[in-house]
Order: sequence, then structure tokens, then C-alpha cells
Amino acid sequence: MSSDLSPLDAAQIAAFKEQGYLAIDSIATPDEVERMRDAYDRLFDAQIGREKGDHFDLAGVDEEDRPAKLQQMLGPSLYAPEFNSFECRETALAAARQILGKSAEPQGEHAIMKPAGFGAATPWHQDESYWDPKLEYHSLSVWVPLQEATLENGCMQFIPGSHQLGVLPHRPINNDRRIHGLEVETQVETARAVACPIPAGGATFHFSRTLHYAGENLTDKPRRAYIMVFGLPRKPFPGERSFSWLKDRETAREKRAASAKSVVLKTGLIP
Ligand code: NI
Repeated sequence: MSSDLSPLDAAQIAAFKEQGYLAIDSIATPDEVERMRDAYDRLFDAQIGREKGDHFDLAGVDEEDRPAKLQQMLGPSLYAPEFNSFECRETALAAARQILGKSAEPQGEHAIMKPAGFGAATPWHQDESYWDPKLEYHSLSVWVPLQEATLENGCMQFIPGSHQLGVLPHRPINNDRRIHGLEVETQVETARAVACPIPAGGATFHFSRTLHYAGENLTDKPRRAYIMVFGLPRKPFPGERSFSWLKDRETAREKRAASAKSVVLKTGLIP
């Protein structure tokens, strides 16, 4: 992918660097959103990738006979190659290069679907808390809703300036090691949270350390989000660090991935 696109203006870039988040009204055309939604629903309806651990419940214990409250899919383009041809991928990469520099590269993509009526909240977290602590990250995520994102269906919310913090202590949701999702342990100043409702095909951007949250889906339609991660080439983290919350996990996802010897498990980022 190469591009001379400049999707962001100087004021947006400056605001993002200062606040750690940004919302824009359009990164994909309505026609593209429709095509993305078709591919997206096909993947989630069939729970593609489940046996490899690439489809799972982010907020529950992920048992086979219970409806997942917060469905996540890693690497949708591996299962639906048309994701590779969507123009918003190139636009998002160009925006990431405006922010991080020309050597920024795609570092993964995933999808989070909150089912109609009972989709769970995504608790406050920093994405970097999920990642290998031995590496150093200069990364950001671009979050694209495939329908309007509202407070009622779980739009993104951010704590301004939180990207300046280090990686805060996290724990598995409910302190249950069987649950994949992480939540920050320290108190979050939720009174400072900024909710970012945006149209279908809009986007929010956040750095890997920006504290973020998305509420439950209280509507009668699924809340679909497609998320792309971009970053500078990763280097060893200078010094020692370990994330205690990543040790001794016992998730059904990891078990399925291990028995399928999933490549994504080893190489993919799992925000
Ligand atoms: Ni996240």
C-alpha cells in the first residue's frame, strides 16, 4: 500500500497528539460501508475462525452453549479477503502515517460486534495492556462503525490526555482468568470521559495508551465496529517490564488457538 492521501488536516493531527483521541465523520463511503457490513455479517453469522481462537467472547467465559456478549474476531481479512481491497484501509494508513511518520505500517485488524439488545460494555482499558511487554509501541487504532455509533449502542469514549500515562495495572474482567477481556485496575475519572458518537463510516483514532471504553448495546440492532491497528516497526522495550495480568490466563480462546496451532495467536496484536 502506498498513498499520497492526506486525510487529516494540521489541526486534527495536533488535537490528536495533544488529546490522544480524534473523531472524524467519514473515512469510508456509504457504498463501501454497505459492502463491509455484508462481509462482516457473513463472518460473524458463521462464527468464522472460532476453532482457531480467532472468534471469541471478549467479555465472557466463551462457552459453546452460551450466546457471546461481546464478540471479537481477529484478522477478518484472512477470512474475507475483500477487506484487503476496501479503500478505507488505505485512507486509515495514510492518516496513521501523517501522525506517526512515513514508516508506520499496518499491524493488525479485528472486529468487535455487540449483539442487539445485550451486547456487553467494553470496560476501560489501554490497548497496550494486551500486548507483549517486551516490545516498544508507537501505535494507534482506527475504529470504524458500520452503522451510526451512538451512546445507546456503544460508541467510543476516551479520557483526554491519558495517552501520556504509562501502562496502568489491568486485570481480566471480573478478575476471572477465563475471560479474555482486560479492564484497568485503577480508578478512572469517568467525569472527564468524552463520548464520540459518529456516523456509519466515520472513525475514531486512539493511541495504544489512551484509556477508552464503549458502553452496552441497548438497541435492537447489532453494533458493528471494524478496527485497524497501525504503528512504527516494533523494537525491544528498553529495560525490564512485565504485565502480570497476562500470566496464567485460562481462556477458551487460547485453548482453541493452541490446539489449532493458530498463526494469528503468535503474530497478531490482540487489542
Ligand atoms: Ni481497545
